[in-house]
Formats: sequence, structure tokens, C-alpha cells
Amino acid sequence: MSVCSCISTTCVVIVILQIIKTLVPWLYKNLLGPKFFGPKIDVRRMGQWAVITGATDGIGKAYAKALAKKGVNVVLISRSKDKLEKVAEEIKSASSAQVKIIDVDFTQGPEIYDKIEKGIAGLEVGTLVNNVGMSYANPEFFLSIQDRDKLLRDIIECNIHSVTHMCKLVMPGMVERKKGVIINISSLSAVVPSPLLSVYGATKAFVDKFSVDLNTEYSSQGIIVQSVLPGYVATNMSKIRKETFLAPNSDNYVASALTTLGITTRTTGFFPHSLMKLTVDIIKAVACEPAANKLSLKTMLNIRKKALRKKAQ
Ligand SMILES: NC(=O)c1ccc[n+]([C@@H]2O[C@H](COP(=O)([O-])OP(=O)(O)OC[C@H]3O[C@@H](n4cnc5c(N)ncnc54)[C@H](OP(=O)(O)O)[C@@H]3O)[C@@H](O)[C@H]2O)c1
Repeated sequence: MSVCSCISTTCVVIVILQIIKTLVPWLYKNLLGPKFFGPKIDVRRMGQWAVITGATDGIGKAYAKALAKKGVNVVLISRSKDKLEKVAEEIKSASSAQVKIIDVDFTQGPEIYDKIEKGIAGLEVGTLVNNVGMSYANPEFFLSIQDRDKLLRDIIECNIHSVTHMCKLVMPGMVERKKGVIINISSLSAVVPSPLLSVYGATKAFVDKFSVDLNTEYSSQGIIVQSVLPGYVATNMSKIRKETFLAPNSDNYVASALTTLGITTRTTGFFPHSLMKLTVDIIKAVACEPAANKLSLKTMLNIRKKALRKKAQ
């Protein structure tokens, strides 16, 4: 064998080994693990109660219903008391779980956390779902966001401060009992280009990074922090009415996301969303990052145009 063919064979072997090293864990975390082995954590064994923020609609409500069905009592936190009461009744009639409600607006100041602290005092909280989040009414250029100062402050309060404050309230009990699960809802927009949603995407990148590092800090104490990065889910926030292959309804999304518990601490929660992220990563690697950014901007400009046209009607 010539030196040349020996080098090319070695290169091919290295490339194949690299592909296997990347592909096998990806398939396990995104498809095979959740489908055949997940969830690997029994939330009931983490503690009798789960606390869910933004629990009256969409993904948060779906987590609350699913956790109650698994036999965990739930504390629902959201801003509208009447909606909270309605969802509490719905959960009680569909499960044997106890339900508590706390009405607070996460865009308000730090005082709201005193009310939450009192509301969950004495409860054995084993699961925390930091779900509450807000975005813009429609994709927009940073300088053209309507009522910009207030909206940006609200988004940061709701998407970032809620997560750190809630962890601060709930984690001491978990550390004491040496067990607990924290599910932080980030977004795919944290890790793929999200022009015209720049502030929203940045708050979700905070949630993702905070979760990864918090997990490293506390995993030796029995606490699992999972960062969940959904793509589109058919909810009020996305304004997608009907579920599609790429945009499941919130119940189907959460059923899928829960199967990843104990399998991976960083997940899109839904296989088609993992495929979306993979596609963006491939475009970035093959066509380079500016091309991926440009493509995203074009898509977002189209969404913005449609939204503005609808608003004007
Ligand atoms: N839907 C998606 O496509 C998508 C994709 C990626 C990530 N996410 C993330 O998933 C999470 C849930 O989104 P979703 O689509 O399920 O939203 P949603 O359907 O609009 O529901 C949001 C929930 O949060 C509550 N909420 C909103 N603002 C609040 C505030 N200031 N104070 C207290 N409660 C408040 C709402 O209460 P009310 O009922 O009173 O409004 C509702 O219960 C968010 O963090 C979002 O960023 C969503």
C-alpha cells in the first residue's frame, strides 16, 4: 500500500469514527432514548408537589395536567385568577392531585416572590417548571418595537428574573432532601438565529446557559436541571392554531418532552424540532453562519409582513 493510500484510508476511518461519535449520542438523546427508555425519572419520587409558572395556557398548562396525571400535586402560578381557578377545576376533575393556585404577574417587581414564597411554604416541592415567558406581538426590528422600553423590561422580568427567583425559592428544599427536578423552558431561538426577535432570543439563551451551568453545579446533590428548547408549538404565543408535523399542540409537545427526563439535560423535547436544529446546524457548517442568518432574516421578514398585514385589516 502506498503512503498516499495509507493516509487517505486513515482520513476516511477518522471521518467515519467522528460521524459515529456524533451521530450515536444524538440519536440516543433525541430519538431512541426518549422513545424506548424514557422517562428515566419518576417525578413522584422527587417530592409530592410540582410548581409550574405560566400554568393557565399552552405548554405550562400541559405540564401541569401531565404532572398531575402522574400523581404529583400541583401549584399553578399565573396572572389571571379566573383562568387559574378554571384550570385548577379541570385538573382536579381529571386526576386525584391536589391543586393550589397563586396569582401573580411576573412583569411586576420582586415583591411578587414574597407572595409565592408564602404560597409554597411547607410544601415538599420536587419538581419546578419554569415555563412562564413572553415575546413580541410580532417579529420586529429592535428600534421599531412598539412601547419598547416597557415591553423589553417586561420580557426580561418575565423570561429571566422569574427563572432565577423561582430557583432561589425552591432549590433550598431540594438540596436539603437531595433530590429534585427543575425544567426550564428556553426556546430553539436561543440557539438558532432569531433576527427580529433579538431580545426574546437573548433571554432564552440566558435560560439555556443558566440551566446548563446550574445543572453542573447541583447534579452531585441529586438535582437535575433540564433546559428545554422547543421549536414552534401551537399556542397563543406562537399564534399557530392547528398542530402540524413541525408544530405540535401543547399536550403532545409536553408528552414528548417528558420522555426526555433523565435521558438528557438539554433537549428540544420533540424529535421534529431536533431535526430542525440539525438542519440549521448543517446550513451553518456547510454554507457558513452569515448565510444561515440571512436565510432566517428573510423568513422572519415574511412572518413580520404577514403579521402587519393581518393587524392592518
Ligand atoms: N409556543 C411556542 O412556539 C414556543 C416556542 C419556544 C418556546 N416557548 C416558550 O414556552 C413557554 C410557554 O409558552 P406558550 O407558547 O405556552 O405561551 P402561552 O400559550 O401564551 O401561555 C403563557 C402562559 O404564561 C402566562 N403568563 C404570560 N405572561 C405572564 C405574566 N406576566 N405573569 C404571569 N403569567 C403570565 C399566561 O397566563 P394568561 O393565561 O393569564 O395569559 C399563560 O398561562 C414560554 O416561555 C415561551 O417562551 C414557546
